[in-house]
Amino acid sequence: MKTRIEEYLKEVENFKAEKIEHLEDFRIKFLSKKGLVPALFADFKNVDPSERKEMGQLINELKNSVQNKIASLKENFDSSSDNKKGSMDLSLPVNAPMGSRHPLSIVRNEIIEIFSRIGFTVSEGPEIEDDFHNFTALNFPADHPARDMQDTFFIEKDPDIALRTHTSSVQVRVMENTQPPIRTISPGRVFRNEAISARAHCIFHQVEGLYVDTDVSFADLKQTLFYFAMELFGEETKTRFRPSYFPFTEPSAEMDVSCNICGGKGCNVCKYTGWVEILGCGMVDPNVLESCKIDSKKYTGFAFGMGVERITMLKYQINDLRLFFENDLKFLEQFKSSY
Ligand code: DAH
Repeated sequence: MKTRIEEYLKEVENFKAEKIEHLEDFRIKFLSKKGLVPALFADFKNVDPSERKEMGQLINELKNSVQNKIASLKENFDSSSDNKKGSMDLSLPVNAPMGSRHPLSIVRNEIIEIFSRIGFTVSEGPEIEDDFHNFTALNFPADHPARDMQDTFFIEKDPDIALRTHTSSVQVRVMENTQPPIRTISPGRVFRNEAISARAHCIFHQVEGLYVDTDVSFADLKQTLFYFAMELFGEETKTRFRPSYFPFTEPSAEMDVSCNICGGKGCNVCKYTGWVEILGCGMVDPNVLESCKIDSKKYTGFAFGMGVERITMLKYQINDLRLFFENDLKFLEQFKSSY
């Protein structure tokens, strides 16, 4: 009898249940009226009196260990919700609410997708930048107003360390580390010391673009950005370039797209002009190429920079930029998208 009980004890110890039904089979096998434990108690009367004490203890030990095993395995099943109702039912509807991407992420991903189709890679740089990458290498004169405390969040002085004011700093980092051909876009957060309003924020997002190779022309720039605008806003979209000034490009331009809200007829979004500005661009200034150790006699390039908030507002007809930062679910839930 002793070896029988010891074998049972081992069996109990090694028992594992994959389903809650296995636990019930186990209980029936040992503890039901016709189970192994009652059978042992029935045989107990035939045990030699000298062994009764030991056998009695062993049978009780077996009974307890079966009960403990059942209790502890049951607890495991209870705490795993999949098995609460027996086994997992894959046909049940999912009640968990589905999340949605932030509209700025949707638009940023779409921009990346459009440019990656024509061979642009994605590059990133630090949000905390030094003066060289944010300003000096980009041909900003020492007294340029953009370096002023009013625009820039400085972190340290001498040498100046600041939160980057634009993603053009990533251009510099890419050119420092790669020789042409370069075809890259750099999405990221930028920071400016501005009062928060419906149209401005101290944190916003930009996507920078850079193309450097032999014989890159302004026509390449125009065609690339024209393609981009049509892909993003639709085939009917028209573009126009207005002359502008940026220290790091020469010549420089701003690109307008026909207002996608009124189709160019005039509305309050385009201030009744039919056009909305979406980006700055130009041919990379030779000084910038040289600052980054790229031979400006051999190579030319174009660059552009766009604000993601502005483009998202246009695409989704959002009239207050602060909505992007408030994380109000009623706002965010409207953007279900695969991007
Ligand atoms: N960095 C500019 C800004 O923040 C945007 C920009 C304009 C980027 C022209 C460029 C460019 O690369 O060529 O306003």
